[in-house]
Amino acid sequence: MISMHNKILITGAAGFIGFHCALRLLQAGHDVVGVDNMNDYYDVQLKEDRLTELSNFTNFTFIKTDISDKPAMEDVWNNYGPFKRVIHLAAQAGVRYSLQNPFAYVQSNVLGHLVILELCRHTEGFEHLVYASSSSVYGGNTKLPYSVTDRTDHPVSLYAATKRSDELMSHAYSHLYHFPQTGLRFFTVYGPWGRPDMSPFIFANAITKGQKVPVFNNGKMKRDFTYIDDIVTGVLAVLDHPPEQDNENVAHRVLNIGNTKSENLMDFIATLENALGTKADIDFKPMQAGDVKETFADVTETTAICGYKPTTTIQDGVPKFIDWFQSYYKV
Ligand SMILES: NC(=O)c1ccc[n+]([C@@H]2O[C@H](COP(=O)([O-])OP(=O)(O)OC[C@H]3O[C@@H](n4cnc5c(N)ncnc54)[C@H](O)[C@@H]3O)[C@@H](O)[C@H]2O)c1
Repeated sequence: MISMHNKILITGAAGFIGFHCALRLLQAGHDVVGVDNMNDYYDVQLKEDRLTELSNFTNFTFIKTDISDKPAMEDVWNNYGPFKRVIHLAAQAGVRYSLQNPFAYVQSNVLGHLVILELCRHTEGFEHLVYASSSSVYGGNTKLPYSVTDRTDHPVSLYAATKRSDELMSHAYSHLYHFPQTGLRFFTVYGPWGRPDMSPFIFANAITKGQKVPVFNNGKMKRDFTYIDDIVTGVLAVLDHPPEQDNENVAHRVLNIGNTKSENLMDFIATLENALGTKADIDFKPMQAGDVKETFADVTETTAICGYKPTTTIQDGVPKFIDWFQSYYKV
């Protein structure tokens, strides 16, 4: 079990995955400090409502700060830390938006990651930094499922390039300063409190409103959709299993964290239609720049290290997402 003796810092705590990780830890009695800059990349009200849920717990502290602001983050560390366990999820997410606003990605994902690395490396007795990477680092790979031993040197979006940069920076910092780190390559996460910029939400919203449902690459896409509860279980299990130093004194690894099933996009939409009780009016579109056609996770290493085993099928997870969607948006 995760040691109870120190606070856990979660960056991106008002975000989708950060909120759920914080909630699970708070419910288990841990002290959690959350940081988020509350940017308006998507609906800020949703981020505020997630924080309202977390603020029901007296063991939760929230600080509105930008992770790329080093002096501000030093203040957080000095006033609320030091933190020996960090779940670092704050980032500019989204593949498609990285074509419109590339600088936001380097600011939050590269500079922000460096600030977190610097703070961790100066913390005495630092135990484990678990940070978010992405399945997008596999870029144009055609070998499936994606394994952590596969090449990741041909990203097809700047978002993917910044996430791969995080992994390389972390490796260098672990080589130089030897503190334990794990990068998690998440595969399309969905569920209650999910992101409005992601396909499950966009589809559910359009179907509900009777609007055209935009489906790229004429629907010939596959995604390893992973339910949020499985992701949280995986993140916390990994947090509890920091890597040992290898024979080069590096204590860094990257792990896949997906559902290990690659679903046809059209099957996913059919599951949404069933849960909503309405047919989708599909608007087939060509492939979008920066997107990949298929994702599929091999989680062999993750399972071996911490027993990670996803259990939620889309038939179970999608109705739970829709229950939340309909009650939150009162539709
Ligand atoms: N959701 C997925 O399917 C998925 C897939 C692969 C990787 N990831 C990665 O997982 C992490 C969490 O994703 P999510 O889905 O919860 O996204 P999210 O956008 O809901 O959460 C990220 C949070 O970080 C905050 N943030 C962004 N830049 C910041 C900065 N500079 N300083 C402080 N806070 C900042 C945002 O306000 C947001 O609340 C991200 O790193 C994302 O890239 C997510």
